[in-house]
Amino acid sequence: MKLGQEWYQREEVASRYDKRFTHGGRVLNREEIEKLLELVDPKGKEILDIATGTGRFAESMEAAGGDVVGMDASKEMLKPGRANYLVGDAFKLPFKGKSFDVSTSMRFLHLIRPRQVPVFLKEVERVTKEKFIFESFNPMSLRALYQWALPQRSYLFRTSYLEELLSDLEFVKDFEANPYFLIPYGAYQVMPYGFAKRVNRIDRKLTEILEPFASTIYWVLEF
Ligand SMILES: C[S@@+](CC[C@H](N)C(=O)[O-])C[C@H]1O[C@@H](n2cnc3c(N)ncnc32)[C@H](O)[C@@H]1O
Repeated sequence: MKLGQEWYQREEVASRYDKRFTHGGRVLNREEIEKLLELVDPKGKEILDIATGTGRFAESMEAAGGDVVGMDASKEMLKPGRANYLVGDAFKLPFKGKSFDVSTSMRFLHLIRPRQVPVFLKEVERVTKEKFIFESFNPMSLRALYQWALPQRSYLFRTSYLEELLSDLEFVKDFEANPYFLIPYGAYQVMPYGFAKRVNRIDRKLTEILEPFASTIYWVLEF
């Protein structure tokens, strides 16, 4: 199994990345973006999107009035010819201290080892004034069923584990965990669009009742 950084530098992996947001994946993409926009409120803010990939979140935050820089370790993932998108490492962000109001990083934490998490968070805090929104995947969810079959290495983090870790970090003033999606991403991606829309309506309701088993947690950290 490959670490995420190397995996996403493969031309064949990068070129088919956005295919996952076709069919049922369109519903998922729309939902993910909507949820992030609610948490970020991008208007008038300077935002860094770390591990931006093909830039779907960065573009949406820009469209919502944010001044966004997208950064990713893989030049293959970054769409060519766009200003404000650059190659860089999440552990060595190429920016001066407190350059951004808000930082975001979606679908990235599962690619880093547990012991690297505090190091990554400290580096984000160095360049961020207000808050950081990121996503983790829950081992107590249906995602655990297909996790083992993924070709790239992927880490799931228990909510209690991250809560404990965040409580111990003196540079984190406050944090909040927002659980979403009982139905994991991989399942949406293989559904037809209309079916995924219906499933999503049920998913929203079920997640309210079964929060501890949500596949995805959006974390909001205040610095
Ligand atoms: C699953 S993709 C997510 C892309 C985007 N955030 C999204 O949700 O569509 C993970 C991304 O993390 C990037 N990545 C992996 N290791 C990285 C690192 N150390 N620094 C910056 N980006 C990294 C990969 O190149 C890839 O584009």
